[in-house]
Amino acid sequence: MPLVPAEQLKRLITDILERVGASPDVAGCVADHLVEANLAGHDSHGVMRIPQYLDAISAGKLRPDGRMQIVAEASASAAVDGGRGFGQVIARDAMLLAIKKARAGGVGAVSVRNCSHTGRIGTYTRMAAQAGLVGIVMVNSGGGGQSVAPFGGTGRRLSTNPISIAAPSGGPHPILLDIASSVAPEGKVRTLFLAGKSVPPGWMIDARGNPTTNPADFYAEPAGALLPLGGAVGYKGFGLGFMIDILAGALSEAGCSRPNPADPSDGMLGIALDVQQFTPLSEFKQRVAELAQYVKSCPTAPGFEQIYVPGEIEARERERHLRDGVSVDPTVWEQIEQACSRLGIRAETST
Ligand SMILES: NC(=O)c1ccc[n+]([C@@H]2O[C@H](COP(=O)([O-])OP(=O)(O)OC[C@H]3O[C@@H](n4cnc5c(N)ncnc54)[C@H](O)[C@@H]3O)[C@@H](O)[C@H]2O)c1
Repeated sequence: MPLVPAEQLKRLITDILERVGASPDVAGCVADHLVEANLAGHDSHGVMRIPQYLDAISAGKLRPDGRMQIVAEASASAAVDGGRGFGQVIARDAMLLAIKKARAGGVGAVSVRNCSHTGRIGTYTRMAAQAGLVGIVMVNSGGGGQSVAPFGGTGRRLSTNPISIAAPSGGPHPILLDIASSVAPEGKVRTLFLAGKSVPPGWMIDARGNPTTNPADFYAEPAGALLPLGGAVGYKGFGLGFMIDILAGALSEAGCSRPNPADPSDGMLGIALDVQQFTPLSEFKQRVAELAQYVKSCPTAPGFEQIYVPGEIEARERERHLRDGVSVDPTVWEQIEQACSRLGIRAETST
C-alpha cells in the first residue's frame, strides 16, 4: 500500500483542488478534512472521495466557489443555503455560526441546505467541543443517496443519515460519538468492494432481502441495501435514521427521502450548547472525565482488551498514522495519480 505522510497528502490534495478552481482556504479546508478522516482510520471519508468530488465539479453539481448564505435568521437560529459549495466548508461555516449564537444565548441551531457531501460529521461537533460547547450534528442526503432498507423492508428508502455528538472532556480529546444510523456508511462498502474483500455479516441484504457479505450485491442491478443499525432490533437504527431525515432534511428544506428526487444535495442540522451557560465548564469537564474513567474501569468481556469511550479509538489511530504515515488504498492512489497527471501535478509516496 502506498504510505504517505499526512502533511504531504494534505499538500497534494490542496494542489489538486486549487487546480480545479478552489480558493486556498477552501482547498485547504477540504484537504484537511479528508486527510484527518484517513488519520482517524475512516478511509471511507478520506482521500478516496477525491475522484467523486472532481466528477461532481465537472458535472457542475459541486461549485468550488459556493459559500454559505443566510436565508433566515433569529437570535438562536439560522437557515443557510450552501450554494452547492464543498460540504466541508459550508458545514464548518454553519457550525461556526451555531457556536457564535450559542455563545450569545446559550443555544444555537443552524440548518443547512444545498451543500455537497458533508464528509465526516464529527469534524463539526469537534469544533464545538474544542471551544467548550456541546456539538450535535445530523445530516441527510436531501432525498438522494438512498441505500438503507427500512426495518422489515427489502428495498432502499433512507440514506445512511449520520449523527454526531461531542462534549468537552478535560482530557486530550473530546468525547465524540460519530456514527451512521445504518450498520455502516456506503463508503465502507465501497472501500471493501475496491479492495476485493467481503463485508462483515449483518451489514447488507441483496435485492431479494437475503443476507449477503458480497459488496458487489450493493452495486448490482437490481441493487441490495444496507441494514439499519441494531441487528435484531434494527427498528432503533431505522427510527433514528428516519428522525434524522426529518431534522436534517425537512427542517432545512434540503428534502427527505422520496421517489426520484431531482438533483439532491446534503441537508444538515447543527446545534451548539454553551456549557458555561448551564454549569461551570470546569465542573462539567470533571463530571465527563469521571464518567469516562468509571465506564473504562469496567471488567472486560472475553475477547476485549479494554473499554473505549466515544472518540478514543479515532484519537489513537490519529497518533499512529501521524507517526507511520497514511496508507492509501492502491486503487484510490491510482485514481489520485490519474487526476494529478491530468492536472499536471506530481504525486509521490514515501514507499
Ligand atoms: N456525510 C455523510 O453523509 C455520512 C453518512 C454516513 C456516515 N458518515 C461518516 O462516516 C463515519 C463512519 O461512520 P460509522 O457508522 O462507520 O462509524 P463506526 O461504526 O466506526 O463508529 C464510530 C463511532 O463509534 C466509536 N467506536 C468505534 N469503535 C468503538 C469501540 N470498540 N468501543 C467504543 N466506541 C467505539 C467511535 O469512537 C465513534 O464515535 C463517521 O465519521 C460519519 O460521520 C458520513
